[in-house]
Amino acid sequence: MDPIRNPYSPGAGRKPAALVGRDDALRGWSTSLERAQIGRTDQPFVLYGLRGVGKTVLLSEFRRNAARKEWIVAQIEAGTGKALRELLGEALYAPLVDLARPSAGRRLLKSLKTALSFKASYDLSGTWTFGVDLSGASGGGADTGILETDLKKLIHDLSDAANEEGTGLAILIDEAQDLQDAELATLCTIAHAAAQDNWPVLLAFAGLPSLPRILAEARSYAERFQYTHIRQLDTEVVAQALTIPAALEDAEWSDEAVDVVVEASGRYPYFLQQFGQETWNVATGPRIEADDARLGVAQGNNQLDNGFFRARWDRATRSEQAYLRAMAPDGDSGSSSGEVATRMSRTLASLGPTRASLISKGLIYAPEHGVIAFTVPGMAAFIERQIAA
Ligand SMILES: Nc1ncnc2c1ncn2[C@@H]1O[C@H](COP(=O)(O)OP(=O)(O)OP(=O)(O)O)[C@@H](O)[C@H]1O
Ligand SMILES: [Mg+2]
Repeated sequence: MDPIRNPYSPGAGRKPAALVGRDDALRGWSTSLERAQIGRTDQPFVLYGLRGVGKTVLLSEFRRNAARKEWIVAQIEAGTGKALRELLGEALYAPLVDLARPSAGRRLLKSLKTALSFKASYDLSGTWTFGVDLSGASGGGADTGILETDLKKLIHDLSDAANEEGTGLAILIDEAQDLQDAELATLCTIAHAAAQDNWPVLLAFAGLPSLPRILAEARSYAERFQYTHIRQLDTEVVAQALTIPAALEDAEWSDEAVDVVVEASGRYPYFLQQFGQETWNVATGPRIEADDARLGVAQGNNQLDNGFFRARWDRATRSEQAYLRAMAPDGDSGSSSGEVATRMSRTLASLGPTRASLISKGLIYAPEHGVIAFTVPGMAAFIERQIAA
């Protein structure tokens, strides 16, 4: 069928034509936005799960939801080598420019002045211009260099300004497991203060399955955050990830064709999109049939091997790849790190750095003490295929 009209969207963070099976999380977020607007602030949201399950896409939907309510919104991705200070500052600039106007209220003017001082705290060479005269405004002081002091001041003043406009401030942080320990602890502290004093601020973190533990280790009250484990799509709704995008293009799937793709995907969103895309391209139409789906899955698996899996495999060094290979026989469910060491005829301690490096690259995580698992669903099978080839 016409590849130009192909409605599927495999790729990191790509918005699917149908965002399926996330209604509860979206409703929860929406409720919290409305609660914050009447002065009842909720604890941060935490979305965690394996690679490709749809955390980024959901977080972006949170952002759009808040933006539709005219909140001040900043969405950032940790782990890109930049400090939280700079990431947040730069993400806030555009929304603040949108809000700035000569008729702005006192608290908005104050928050702009505070934002300017925050900018100066990490970048002395560049300045922001909001096109309004801030000389008479109070505010500023978010440039002490102490992250907690500066960030707290910024978030307080911005949420106060949003409050004046009848909205709030939403901060969304993707790949949050990659934040520095001190940054994470600071955010937890501020979120806690915000919830206690009912500032209209909502935070959402997204990240790997290790994120809940990392948060709990950063600050004990992170236990009270609202955790949602993002998993494969439920059996009741998974078919819709294929059929709704097709229907929007006046195309349909046979039930059998849907079954073939759903089965092959393990109900993982990324794989559904990849197989959906390939199946669409090989099908002649008007209806997508089971044979199309089988061919689509075969081609899709090729694409995944050469892209999704390969890209991650190539991120590992030789010795890290040896470690991953030793994990592969255990499949996706995880390996005992002692057993992996035995297989490699090495001591557990000598493999510590390799293991740590693989964790920091986001390729594996520790579901529990002494256990190690792939963050990428299907990675074990990919490695076995490479060994066999
Ligand atoms: N609820 C959903 N319904 C249908 N497709 C989805 C859904 N969520 C995500 N997808 C699709 O799945 C793919 C992966 O989504 P996303 O990048 O958000 O995953 P992720 O969990 O952030 O992965 P990573 O850990 O690698 O960052 C994308 O192609 C996206 O279009
Ligand atoms: Mg993501």
